[in-house]
Amino acid sequence: MDLLLKESAKIIKKSNYTIAFTGAGISVESGVPPFRGEHGLWNKYNPEVLDLGYYLDHADECWVYIREIFYDFFADAKPNPAHLVLAEMEQKGLLQAVITQNIDNLHYEAGNKMVHEFHGNSKKLKCLKCEAVYDVSEVDLKSLPPKCKNDGEILKPDFIFFGEGIPHEAYSNSFAAAEKAEVCLIIGSTGEVTPASYVPRIAKQSGATIIEINPEESSFTSQITDIHLKGKASEVMTKLAAELF
Ligand code: APR
Repeated sequence: MDLLLKESAKIIKKSNYTIAFTGAGISVESGVPPFRGEHGLWNKYNPEVLDLGYYLDHADECWVYIREIFYDFFADAKPNPAHLVLAEMEQKGLLQAVITQNIDNLHYEAGNKMVHEFHGNSKKLKCLKCEAVYDVSEVDLKSLPPKCKNDGEILKPDFIFFGEGIPHEAYSNSFAAAEKAEVCLIIGSTGEVTPASYVPRIAKQSGATIIEINPEESSFTSQITDIHLKGKASEVMTKLAAELF
């Protein structure tokens, strides 16, 4: 692994445009459960609660699970060393963009500024009728479902449900960054969800070197990964930082 770390650091230092594509795995060591795998949320909850069509007809029922999954768990999650290393890489000009599937806000909290949130962000709720946006801290989630102060409509978390379109700006910025990338780090993703998982694939097609950080193999590993740094995100990123800074 040490040789691979040294080689990865050399490649990153030479790169003029590096991006990081992150998934639920980067936040596991912050206490946020992944969706798939041994302790995956989808083993315990029915993903239907995040299906847009089902939600629109059963918002009351879905909100019970949404609060448990995304607000009880996330409430006190803090950035872990992997998030912090990405922030330091950006500060030092070694990382030009983070494209994240995560909605936990941890990249911003770690200090990254150039973050494209492909699936939105759980810290905002919005009214589908008048489009008012609320910070979740100003909404009382003890009484469900949360309602819009303007028109009484049920508020929806401002992250993407299954069957919902990707935010246009995040979508176009992510693929523009992927096309420019000379290096794409993939940290903690199964690569099972599209169109998000096309981002590293477009980077690869555009000539980027793919460096994957994951304790397991993913659907990227055998198809596009050039260097697989096998291990937990915070451990590997800490070792990579030692080679980079
Ligand atoms: N460090 C790095 N990677 C880890 C760690 C860790 N400590 N722990 C687990 N992983 C890896 C797992 O091996 C797996 O590959 O993180 C990945 C988690 O996979 P998923 O839960 O499928 O996460 P992700 O790929 O981000 O899911 C994509 O699916 O449900 C939707 O919208 C949701 O954004 C999510 C999307």
